[in-house]
Amino acid sequence: MIDQKLADNLRKRAEEGDASVLRSPELKSLFDQIKTMPLEQRGAFGQAANALRQELTQAIQKNQHQTETLAPIDITAPFDVNMPPDQRPQFLPTNRGSIHPLMTELATVLDIFYRLGFTAVESREIDDDYHMFGALNFPEGHPARDDYDTFVTVQKDKKSKPFIAPAHTSTMQNRVLKKHKVELEQGQPIAAVIPGRVFRNEDLDARHEHTFYQLEGVYVDKGIHAGHLIATLKAFLQAYYGKQLEVKTNPFYFPFTEPSFEFMLSCPFCDKQGCHICSQAGWIELLGCGMIHPNVLKEAGIDPNVYTGFAWGGGIDRLVMMKYGIEDIRHFHSAKLDFLRQFA
Ligand code: DAH
Repeated sequence: MIDQKLADNLRKRAEEGDASVLRSPELKSLFDQIKTMPLEQRGAFGQAANALRQELTQAIQKNQHQTETLAPIDITAPFDVNMPPDQRPQFLPTNRGSIHPLMTELATVLDIFYRLGFTAVESREIDDDYHMFGALNFPEGHPARDDYDTFVTVQKDKKSKPFIAPAHTSTMQNRVLKKHKVELEQGQPIAAVIPGRVFRNEDLDARHEHTFYQLEGVYVDKGIHAGHLIATLKAFLQAYYGKQLEVKTNPFYFPFTEPSFEFMLSCPFCDKQGCHICSQAGWIELLGCGMIHPNVLKEAGIDPNVYTGFAWGGGIDRLVMMKYGIEDIRHFHSAKLDFLRQFA
């Protein structure tokens, strides 16, 4: 007998007009099974498999020629982007592909920061030792370098150091500070967010991936202090999660900030009651941040006696996982359509 669940699954795909069903490994495996069966069963099984293939072919033909009538979209009243995905209007059938949830969410995140007056700069996927460590006040041979174990190339740069797949988006700080130094001196604060893909040599589990996304933030002006940092991040998080949240900071160490903090957020899922998202703690360690170290400003040609600033860096995947209760970070790169279509 043909496995009922398998057959139903194939029928469902065929009814969605998915022609690849006919070439699918599932269907092929049915025909492969015939050879391994006792002779007396082969005839009936083969007939059933052929009948199923024919049924699938017909379903695909029927559904491929069907045009779907969609409700007209009123372009003068675009939908609210903060609406849950299942309530957004469906512009096109999603079985032909859709934007990856991380990219949709990144657009929402950037939009909030644009409204807070930040500009966005994209990070890069290959960098050098100077931007990864040197410009960020990591002395040569400092043990903090070991926290950023990442992938390097065999090819060496001018200083005989390998190129690096960046382990954080902080590699962009020096470039952004240098680029906007002139405007800063004309009285305009530096306010930039830097999204980018980062890489780490990690043991993989539900919370750790070798490749993920970070969002870095940098703000510099006269008279900037940690209160500005906390207020900015809180305003962003409340806009992103659409609710009032509590935040707190714990002291931490990063070579490129002084003081440095670990930024904690009251769990947006359970409002501090304790749940599986926050491991029953009620609080979530969300990101690293602090006041930009004077040496980092100096390295970019900015006088730390005149200007101060804050910076932060945190995982975008993490933010999105918490928003939708996604339990495993590996889903994002799994290419599983069942996962992706929930966000289409
Ligand atoms: N780059 C740090 C990391 O990935 C996070 C971080 C901490 C970024 C403090 C910052 C900062 O800009 O100020 O672990």
